[in-house]
Amino acid sequence: MKKVITYGTFDLFHEGHRRLLQRAKELGDYLIVVLSSDEFNWNQKGKKSYFTYDERKHMLEAIRYVDLVIPETCWEQKKSDVHEYHIDTFVMGDDWQGKFDFLKEEGVEVVYLPRTPEISTTQIKQDLNEK
Ligand code: CTP
Repeated sequence: MKKVITYGTFDLFHEGHRRLLQRAKELGDYLIVVLSSDEFNWNQKGKKSYFTYDERKHMLEAIRYVDLVIPETCWEQKKSDVHEYHIDTFVMGDDWQGKFDFLKEEGVEVVYLPRTPEISTTQIKQDLNEK
């Protein structure tokens, strides 16, 4: 069984997220989403999500491409996650192009998928603010 892993906040779940997860799942048989915790978002990424970790987790668990959701609590866990979960392929959107190539040294395939244009959580928040 080929196992795929991806990381993110997935707040205000949108079409860009759905397409990323669909393409990630197509690269293997089992998809793990490592979901940024509220503390990690706030302390490390400097952003506060609209939906809580549990709400975002429940949303992702209802997506048919997603097999498992686990928390992201620090930047360094990627290296241990790929071994702990026996990962074959690491996937991120191409806004992270090249940033995680170091995982290739762990024997993992690293894939950056093209982002879906013109949509993001930040954009949705801005658009709603202007209305
Ligand atoms: N993603 C994508 N296409 C988009 C938006 C996001 O492929 N239009 C991907 C990202 O590249 C990432 C994953 O979805 O691999 C989760 O992204 P996340 O940062 O949670 O979503 P954004 O909408 O980019 O959030 P923000 O605006 O807060 O950065």
